[in-house]
Amino acid sequence: MGPLRDSAGAWGSVSKSFHWGSALLILAQFPLGWVAVHWPLSPTDITLYTWHKSLGLLILLLTCLRMGWRCISASPQLPAPTTAWERAIARAGHRALYILILALSVSGWAIASSSHVPFKVFWAFALPPITPPDHALEQAMKHAHVWLAAILGGALTVHIAAAFWHHFARRDNVLSRMLPGRGDPS
Ligand code: HEM
Ligand code: HEM
Repeated sequence: MGPLRDSAGAWGSVSKSFHWGSALLILAQFPLGWVAVHWPLSPTDITLYTWHKSLGLLILLLTCLRMGWRCISASPQLPAPTTAWERAIARAGHRALYILILALSVSGWAIASSSHVPFKVFWAFALPPITPPDHALEQAMKHAHVWLAAILGGALTVHIAAAFWHHFARRDNVLSRMLPGRGDPS
């Protein structure tokens, strides 16, 4: 398990759980959203949408909690040879990922609010609307949602490539210290 909290050299298990839990849910959202859009209108289609929207809202909640935890933690620094501008790019890239996840989830919530499709989060409770029902707004939010998903997909490709670059080209501990069960203190 390792320590719960982050330190100057290592991610704690809370941050690792947030990272890999969110990564799994977010990667599942791409095929789930795509299949829901292309499935013929039917009870199965409604079920696919209920999963997509519910998991998306869970991602929104997890991301808010994760950002709170990030703010009160001393996060690990990048290893010594990293230059100031590389640090700045890494920080900007991670901030962009957080902003894209929030914007994508909120645009999805806005689609759910502006459309007339009945929906209960995990079949349990109604979602409070953040917009009035409005067809033009629904179309605009759908447009924004697809574009944000495409941009997040591109950003994640760069993110994952960067993780492998650290591991195989620069051969530092940046990837291994995010993996479960390794509290590499360096
Ligand atoms: C949907 C998928 C993913 C999302 C949304 C995501 C998001 C993020 C974010 C926001 C951070 C910054 C953490 C912070 O400083 O607050 C981060 C760190 C990191 N991610 Fe991901 N990630 C994803 C998938 C992956 C995958 C598949 C890998 C590995 C192949 C990976 C490797 C890493 C590593 C190594 C770090 C730590 C960087 C450091 O120590 O400074 N991520 N990720
Ligand atoms: C990180 C979270 C999310 C990701 C990665 C994501 C991704 C996607 C993708 C890839 C599509 C398919 C777009 C297309 O092929 O046209 C889609 C559609 C959709 N998503 Fe999400 N989504 C997320 C969160 C949400 C949330 C929180 C909601 C609602 C509460 C939501 C509601 C919808 C709806 C209603 C559609 C259908 C849009 C249409 O008919 O054009 N999504 N999503």
